[in-house]
Amino acid sequence: GKTYKIAVIPGDGIGQEVMPCGLASLRAAASRFNFTLDITSFDFASCDYFDKHGTMMPPDWVEILRPFDAIYFGAVGDPARHPDHITLWGSLLQMRRQFDQYVNLRPCRLVKGVPSPLKDPGEIDFWIVRENTEGEYSEVGGKIFEGTEREVVIQETVMTRIGVDRILKYAFDLARTTKRKKLTSATKSNGIKITMPYWDSRFHLMAKDYPEVKTEQFHIDILSAHFVAKPSHFDVVVGSNLHGDILSDLGPAVTGTIGIAPSGNINPEGKWPSLFEPVHGSAPDIMGKGIANPVGMIWAGQMMLLHLGEKEAAEAMLRAIDTVLGRADGNVLTPDMKGKGTTQKLGDAIAEAVATV
Ligand code: NAD
Ligand code: IPM
Ligand code: MN
Repeated sequence: GKTYKIAVIPGDGIGQEVMPCGLASLRAAASRFNFTLDITSFDFASCDYFDKHGTMMPPDWVEILRPFDAIYFGAVGDPARHPDHITLWGSLLQMRRQFDQYVNLRPCRLVKGVPSPLKDPGEIDFWIVRENTEGEYSEVGGKIFEGTEREVVIQETVMTRIGVDRILKYAFDLARTTKRKKLTSATKSNGIKITMPYWDSRFHLMAKDYPEVKTEQFHIDILSAHFVAKPSHFDVVVGSNLHGDILSDLGPAVTGTIGIAPSGNINPEGKWPSLFEPVHGSAPDIMGKGIANPVGMIWAGQMMLLHLGEKEAAEAMLRAIDTVLGRADGNVLTPDMKGKGTTQKLGDAIAEAVATV
């Protein structure tokens, strides 16, 4: 079988706790499906590293990470130690940009065995395609009269034609392959009067190239409401960086917990390594308790295998997640899924299932 070079970055908080579960399932998949994961772990992109070195990453992090086939990433940030914008702009957000991971792909699915907060959720199974390198996450702006009553702070949203078109194209291409072939665009062109109407105009123009895809758009406010009121309506949802960020916590919450949600930060051209991580963060409120849900981390590993081309192994990993969660065993499910299990227990059960189901 093939060998894949994987950079492992656990990061902070529960990133450290869920990473071993992700690796256990990946190892089980590798040995069953006959490929090798050549794993190198890094301690950078963490508050511990920052305390020691004064930066989140070594100066040559691009050259260090570039040769890897993929990056497997836990979570970063601990606002009690360092401000989030310093730690995140010094790590994860740099990687997304430098490695041109312009697609943030986030599946959202109601999994049997995981209790939804909705009384009657129906079937929920959709994709969020989030723009990941520009938009509201910009470094354009500044402050004047700082520290005075006349203080002004400005931060610009940046949309480029290349940036908008490439994320829309990815979303249309994905929507073309699904059963329902429906693409929803998240906008806010009533209130945000330059960038959002531009986004809409590129969306409508591209729709002409995809006659087989049904399209619709909603302003982000009512779209959020629809995510809760009729989540089964959605198939593929595309949004700007900030819209996609918000929707990708809301969607998984409606399916029970953000603890199961995975994400792929993808450079589709394969020019740079892609990065796979759970949607959730470092969860300082539960860190050290051993109760973090490891499914988001494991499922992110599943997305990584698919990206690497190990289709059968990826399918087995998804079966393993579905099988173990589907048992609805309160002794195994973690507290965010209304169980009294632990990270370790659930992680072990899924790794075992990866080897067998
Ligand atoms: P968070 O996702 O870390 O936590 C939000 C809530 O969800 C918390 O109550 C937490 O306990 C719960 N939760 C999250 N993951 C869980 C899991 N696997 N199992 C059970 N419960 C889980 O978001 P936050 O509190 O806004 O952020 C905490 C820190 O993480 C901040 O520093 C933030 O910037 C950072 N963050 C990092 C990433 C990332 O690295 N990709 C993503 C989001 C937030
Ligand atoms: C995510 C996170 C990050 C984001 C933060 C930690 C910068 O919330 O991956 O969803 O906003 O992209
Ligand atoms: Mn987020």
